[in-house]
Amino acid sequence: MNTVKIHDKVFSKTIPNEEICNEIKKLADRINHDYAGKRPLLLGVLNGCFMFVSELMKNLDIECEISFIKLSSYQGTATTGVVREVLGLSESIAGRDVIILEDIVDTGLTMQRLLETLGTRNPASMEIASLFLKPARLKVPVDVKYSVFTIPDRFIVGFGLDYDGLGRNLPDVYDVVE
Ligand code: IMP
Repeated sequence: MNTVKIHDKVFSKTIPNEEICNEIKKLADRINHDYAGKRPLLLGVLNGCFMFVSELMKNLDIECEISFIKLSSYQGTATTGVVREVLGLSESIAGRDVIILEDIVDTGLTMQRLLETLGTRNPASMEIASLFLKPARLKVPVDVKYSVFTIPDRFIVGFGLDYDGLGRNLPDVYDVVE
């Protein structure tokens, strides 16, 4: 299946599942190394992060914990720039080494807001790991320490990412066909 139609748009396959999983394994190796002897708290940003989190966790062999937060800032294929916290974090992150797990950093506004919010709760450290990063779209400077794929300014779906609610279940990643 090299093309899929979702709502009004056609998408074509660009990154096969095997390549995504191989690259996530490399990220896990870096985190295993960087956080050896620590017990990081991984913080997944729902909804898009779920496949990324699952694949990453399977490849981590250090002690680690996972929790989830839900924010929303996006409708359709154009960011609204409005970030709304939907589900908060119940446990304390004070003194913890936090790794935020995001599906994609686009304008960076979501991550900027999340870093500001979490920063007031006194974590020992806080880093961002994003499956995808679109550097050409960044509107604010956000330091993404771990990014798996750097991609051009194109809208993608699959491996957890959606287009208006659909496409998250696709195991591969697809680019919109203009
Ligand atoms: P930002 O605040 O502009 O960085 O937006 C980040 C959020 O926008 C991500 O968590 C996604 O939900 C959504 N997003 C940005 N680009 C894409 C894309 O290409 N496909 C699907 N969702 C996207």
